[in-house]
Amino acid sequence: MRRPVRIAVTGAAGAISYSLLFKIAAGEMMGRDQPVILQLIELPDAMESLRGVAMELEDCAYPLLHTITLHDNVEEGFSNCHFALLVGARPRGPGMERSDLIEVNAEIFARQGKALNDFANRDVKVLVTGNPANTNALIASRNAPDLSPSQFTCLTRLDHNRARGMLASQCGVTARDIQNIIIWGNHSPTQYPDLHHATVFGVPAMGQIDTAWYRDQFIPRVQERGSEIIKARGLSSAASAAQAIVDQMHNWSQGTDPGEIVSMGILSDGSYGIQKGVFFSFPVRCNYGRYQIVHGLDISDFSRKQLTATELELLEEKSVVEHLLPKETEASH
Ligand code: NAD
Ligand code: LMR
Repeated sequence: MRRPVRIAVTGAAGAISYSLLFKIAAGEMMGRDQPVILQLIELPDAMESLRGVAMELEDCAYPLLHTITLHDNVEEGFSNCHFALLVGARPRGPGMERSDLIEVNAEIFARQGKALNDFANRDVKVLVTGNPANTNALIASRNAPDLSPSQFTCLTRLDHNRARGMLASQCGVTARDIQNIIIWGNHSPTQYPDLHHATVFGVPAMGQIDTAWYRDQFIPRVQERGSEIIKARGLSSAASAAQAIVDQMHNWSQGTDPGEIVSMGILSDGSYGIQKGVFFSFPVRCNYGRYQIVHGLDISDFSRKQLTATELELLEEKSVVEHLLPKETEASH
């Protein structure tokens, strides 16, 4: 049997974690032969509820679940972790502007970045889910100067999976038959779901769908799916977000299939003309525990406009938290 890996999860008593933790313990994320230690982190007020979740995990008697530890602070909770899933975040309260939300979360993610820097395993892989995910990832990574920014990512796999599912429904196929969807940019309504490189049964998707449907219905539907779910359920997406976290971490740590493209929010290195220094969703392939941007894809004028819109939004979000970002070092580019 392998040695267990340590997985720290913040917001562990929340809605997403209530699906996520059980998937991880069942081996869906790290593989069916990989034991896991769960280091669960919550706010002090939610520790009682977290204890209930831990009891349920224990009651599942998962063969791969080695140990569960509970923490009310990230400094202890991130100790030696190999993977850190930053799910917990402050939700938007009544009368709160988006910029207020960005600022309160900036403080939370600055502390989490510092704690990762000081206490996590040196090879830790970090995935930020808590919103605004891209900008929170930027803040966490900039507060972890001893870790590489390439160790930080944010979740755009949910958008990727949504696009794949919707295209599958439209074409009357299953998601398995659809490849190479790309989500570019921010996890927000400015994101760009790009089908120009996607295939259905190996054949270009754009030849099989109506361009007007793609532009006027598909794109806004993917962009607004989060709000559509909140409206319908009265709560934000949880099980599908958990599945996306599992998918993104699984690909990052175990690799993608040959030729497969997935979308991940990562620090821009200037690829495709996107300004360096923002977390932007790019098409990537993964192997050996690393991701690489897929280069050389054609970007049409239509696509360029969409990329620019989401890039500008991210630059604006960055400007809101600029005063909270430690001075940039060479490594933060
Ligand atoms: P939730 O409110 O049910 O749970 C969040 C939990 O986080 C709560 O239990 C809260 O006590 C805890 N928490 C808050 N601040 C914390 C901190 N500083 N340290 C540790 N724990 C903390 O919310 P949820 O439905 O699980 O969603 C979590 C976040 O994920 C939200 O920000 C949501 O907007 C975001 N989200 C992102 C995506 C994505 O695709 N990126 C998708 C869905 C939801
Ligand atoms: C989602 O995409 O479902 C969430 O990010 C929505 C939200 O605001 O929590």
